[in-house]
Amino acid sequence: PYLEPYVDELPVPPVVRGDRTLAVAGARHRFHRDLNPAPTWGYGGQAYLGPTVDAHAHESLELTFENQLGMHLFAKDIDTSLHGATEAARTMPPVSVHLHGAVAPPDMDGHPEDVFVPGGSRRHRYDNPQEAAHLWYHDHAEGLTRLNVFGGLAGMYLLRDGFDTGGVDNAWGLPSGEFEMPLVLQDRRFHEDGSLNFRTLTSIPEGKWDPGQIGDLMTVNGVVSPYYRVAKGLYRFRVVNGSNYRSYHLFFSNRMAFWVVGNDGGVLDTSVLTTSVRLTPGERIDLVVDFSRLSKGERVELTNDQEEVPIIKLVSGAEPLPHLVRFIGTGVTGHTATPPARLRGGAGRPPLLPRPETPVRTRVVALTQDGDLKRWPPVGMSLNNLSFTDEDIEMPRQGTTELWEIVNATVEEHPVHLHLVNMRILNRQEFRLGAYLLANPRPPKGTRWAPSPARFLKGEPEPPAAWEAGAKDTVACPEGMVTRVLVRFPSADELGFDPDATWEAAGGGHSMEGMEADQQSHTLQGYVWHCHILDHEDDCMMARYRLVES
Ligand code: C2O
Ligand code: CU
Repeated sequence: PYLEPYVDELPVPPVVRGDRTLAVAGARHRFHRDLNPAPTWGYGGQAYLGPTVDAHAHESLELTFENQLGMHLFAKDIDTSLHGATEAARTMPPVSVHLHGAVAPPDMDGHPEDVFVPGGSRRHRYDNPQEAAHLWYHDHAEGLTRLNVFGGLAGMYLLRDGFDTGGVDNAWGLPSGEFEMPLVLQDRRFHEDGSLNFRTLTSIPEGKWDPGQIGDLMTVNGVVSPYYRVAKGLYRFRVVNGSNYRSYHLFFSNRMAFWVVGNDGGVLDTSVLTTSVRLTPGERIDLVVDFSRLSKGERVELTNDQEEVPIIKLVSGAEPLPHLVRFIGTGVTGHTATPPARLRGGAGRPPLLPRPETPVRTRVVALTQDGDLKRWPPVGMSLNNLSFTDEDIEMPRQGTTELWEIVNATVEEHPVHLHLVNMRILNRQEFRLGAYLLANPRPPKGTRWAPSPARFLKGEPEPPAAWEAGAKDTVACPEGMVTRVLVRFPSADELGFDPDATWEAAGGGHSMEGMEADQQSHTLQGYVWHCHILDHEDDCMMARYRLVES
């Protein structure tokens, strides 16, 4: 349906603090003035999305999630050929809650196989042994993540500490209270009756996996193209790309400059003044925007012009979605200050760690896509040409830093996310993809394939964008490029827990295989890393990894 932009106000999710129980439940939600309220899913009593959890570093917090869902919202869209997606999921939807960006032991991490069905619950204890950061929690049930998050299972988790207090006493005079808010960016598609429409390509039979859910309308905090009234002054927007597939190239309609003060893992060393940023699924960005020149009634829009790569554009017909949020000036004075240039170092917070240090090894990993003629569309996604259940996984050693060369051997960009750890982007470099593929024939899926791109490199390594300079847990890996990141794998001492404990307990094998989803088991296997395009992670573009003792 055509929907007029900027007629509904931007909702700001409620903030919760302290231990609590959050229901995972269905309700009805209206996405736009001209749509009927329709079934959605949410956390903690929210019809769609969840409350913003305000937590404090080094203080533990217990969140208990109770699965109160009925029938699956997208029962017809479940593809039972995907690992983890069962027939039973249609009537008893399993969920798993992952706190994205958290330093948490494996049994608290929301592993994709740590699912619980209606009537069940899961208690997550987060000790938050990390500095202030912009985390988010979302569903991670294996083979169902793309559907469960699409239905609304995502929320913000803002971690505060002595510098980034979340109050007016923060170390840098950043906007807080009513001047700080999350913006959850999600493209969506609707049926005429106002309900969510998961299907992008009608050429793909109903119930068959679609390589990318792409919406035709933009929602922010669960409302189609909202407006928001802003005072004269600064606002701090904690932005997450919570979309299944789409990336955004964000800028303001008047091309005004704004500051990036942080990203996934916390504040940057110095704030970055820019006129645009890019955000792939799963990435967060911490923006400070100055509306002090916006007089009463004056408007400026947060907009986007990100095109899809030609093949995706051709197949899906997707156009950039420009209508995000319209900000309207109230003329009232708000938070007046200038964001500081320096956020770390000096008397303040120590500079970002790890400093680029010498990696103990280089690990080449490949993002792979293959033709699978047994399915329609004949496409399959994978990491290193392996499936989720394959045993040939990465096993970095605790307390070491590694250089990962992430080789994107596909025709589209993939945001790569590692659970538990942070990365620093070194650079990205093009390689001759065609020649690389020709010289390295790929064995059938199930045999590791991650050849070095060294002989095929082109041009010079490109440094990351200035706002990507911080601690990243999700990194954009463009097609036909190798993305080089330093990954610090902490030791058990640094973590305060044994990151390999559950692996040992599970006997190292893939013990969940063949288990019914309602046999709740805690014998999980370490952590996972995956593409954060939700459609891709559901189709094996996800692997387990294990942090072994040195
Ligand atoms: Cu945000 Cu493993 O995910
Ligand atoms: Cu992907």
